[in-house]
Amino acid sequence: MSGKLATRLREGTKQSHSLAENADFIQCFLKGVVERTSYRQLLGNFHFVYSALEDQLTQHQNHPLLSQLYFPALYRQQSLATDLSYYWGPQWQTSITPSSATQHYIDRINEVAIADPILLVAHSYTRYLGDLSGGQLLKKLAQRGMNLSQGQGTAFYEFEDIQNPKTFKVTYRQSLDNLLLDESTITHIVDEANLAFKLNMELFKEVEGNLIQAIGQMIFSHLTRSRRNGQSQWSTDLGETTALQPQD
Ligand code: HEM
Repeated sequence: MSGKLATRLREGTKQSHSLAENADFIQCFLKGVVERTSYRQLLGNFHFVYSALEDQLTQHQNHPLLSQLYFPALYRQQSLATDLSYYWGPQWQTSITPSSATQHYIDRINEVAIADPILLVAHSYTRYLGDLSGGQLLKKLAQRGMNLSQGQGTAFYEFEDIQNPKTFKVTYRQSLDNLLLDESTITHIVDEANLAFKLNMELFKEVEGNLIQAIGQMIFSHLTRSRRNGQSQWSTDLGETTALQPQD
């Protein structure tokens, strides 16, 4: 198999994307059921994940390849701190601890940062391109689902230093394509991105318990039972236009 990294990642994680999108927690989210306890728990976990990722990306900013993907404008640590303060209060840092799936995720980030730092590309790709793509849709759903006032509790979806996420994604993909990589490294990065999707799904699975407790097993089963064919909501072919257009 050949091809540039951006396309290889897109094609090579299509199935994982579809599975992640179909995770029960995400399905409830997409149906407008966003529950505060599970949501703030997820944001707390994201804080640890993004801190690990962004610390490692910063440490490797002079790496010959990773330097080409050094985009602090993507960093979410600050926006997560703003949201965590909103959901947990000013003492949020003493209120949250990494869950076991979170610990697993950050261990993996730190492990590849030492053993094979180029694999950090996979972790950066999986989170940030996802955030840039789904952000506006998820923001609206969070606002409606939790009855949030404008500008409260949704900093995570705001990229203040990125004027146009669509254009930025083009730049990001070009930077991926410009990396001079051999076939074996490309394969490893795609494999790592698939693992990153899996690690995300473990995070979603963990917070599901709180969601079920809040909305009840019956409603949860109802919301999650009608789509078990594993199909992607945004497209079975990433080129197609669908009803869900998060960034538009
Ligand atoms: C909430 C459900 C989701 C929806 C509706 C959704 C929707 C989308 C859409 C429409 C795109 C295409 C954007 C474009 O072509 O420019 C996209 C891309 C992407 N999404 Fe998602 N997504 C969801 C969940 C996720 C999750 C949970 C992750 C990872 C944890 C993720 C990671 C990505 C990545 C990495 C891309 C970039 C694909 C590429 O062009 O290479 N998404 N998503």
